[in-house]
Amino acid sequence: MGAQWGDEGKGKIIDYLAPSFDVIARANGGANAGHTIVVSGEKRVFHLVPAASLHEGKPVILGAGMVIHLPTLAEEIMTLRGAGIDIVPRLFISRAAHIVFEYHKAIDAVLEERRREAKGEGIGTTRRGIGPAYTDKAARFGIRMEMLKDTQALKNELTAHVMHVQAMYGVEVDVNAELEAIKEATGLVSERVTDAVKVLHDHLHEGRRILIEGAQGSLLDIDHGTYPHVTSSATTVAGALHALGLPPRALSSSIGVAKAYCTRVGGGPFPTEAEAGAADRLRQRGGEYGATTGRPRRCGWLSLPDLRRVGALNGFTCWNITKLDVLDQEKMIPVSIEERSGKAEYKELPGWEHSTHGVTEFKKLPKQARDYIAFIEQETGIPVSLIGTGQEREAMVIRG
Ligand code: IMP
Repeated sequence: MGAQWGDEGKGKIIDYLAPSFDVIARANGGANAGHTIVVSGEKRVFHLVPAASLHEGKPVILGAGMVIHLPTLAEEIMTLRGAGIDIVPRLFISRAAHIVFEYHKAIDAVLEERRREAKGEGIGTTRRGIGPAYTDKAARFGIRMEMLKDTQALKNELTAHVMHVQAMYGVEVDVNAELEAIKEATGLVSERVTDAVKVLHDHLHEGRRILIEGAQGSLLDIDHGTYPHVTSSATTVAGALHALGLPPRALSSSIGVAKAYCTRVGGGPFPTEAEAGAADRLRQRGGEYGATTGRPRRCGWLSLPDLRRVGALNGFTCWNITKLDVLDQEKMIPVSIEERSGKAEYKELPGWEHSTHGVTEFKKLPKQARDYIAFIEQETGIPVSLIGTGQEREAMVIRG
């Protein structure tokens, strides 16, 4: 699970863990997420399909908490097919997941504009229609995946919805264009829409191990995040379990993924945001540009008050601290140890000014880097079991 504002680099740990799991599940969110996966030697960005889908033969569950933009799903399925991987036969899509239509994206843009006019700034959403799709869901006129099996009923629902969307947002809905846009995906996946709760529970009953891939991060949680600058789903461990229909006791462990520093895309408070020079260095070294929108990410320092809070919220078993090597050239590394009235109080930790790139053994990390990790453990009370030291799959310290 992401422990900051998303983009913590969850893909790598997922890739590492996937071989020891039998089933892959994504709980919530939609095409606002983005992870880069290398397919046939080419970097491709996926938004809906979980990162571990590339691990052949494993069932992939898209849970009830998700909001699914079908043309994006079709595109991802076809990209994988192009690389010789057909995930359709092992795809199980919750019948209760909601569909994101084109008009949701149009509403997203209208609402951002209205916020900008009213308050001078928007949330900085990904404009993927996420908020409006969850709005429809909560208002109880969302259209769920189960409707793909009955296109006439789906058309009737959409048609009934047109007036409301027009009146509320001034957005025109072209029902035929909406249906046309989901045609390819409907052909590909309508038979894969199912009771995903039953599928998961059957696997549990058989003693199979389920890997839940978090989307976004805890600080973007609709209830516990930096509201209103949040996404519209529950991005915590409990939120993921709920969205998949799994009971809390099904959980055996949970890993909080946090960068050794911090980034944020979009608006909202960021008390540890670095001043321009340092932010540029972190962005440059960390390649901090949004996978979904290409936006440069805001960059700053680690916030221990945030990690303490998020650790408590989620009950993480351990941390995976990612991208430690991005800090390699820093002389002094500020870490927020307290936050008062939205202002960070820093402790400056000495940098290591030495490459940690590709290091795989804890004892081979420079002393200052080990101290940095020990400080995180001491201040959060949660052990750091995994440390990312570079982009490559193998560039990771794994501690007992
Ligand atoms: P939305 O989820 O598109 O409505 O965007 C709401 C906020 O969440 C914006 O600040 C987005 O930048 C942020 N956000 C949503 N998904 C992600 C993600 O996967 N990574 C980072 N930020 C995200």
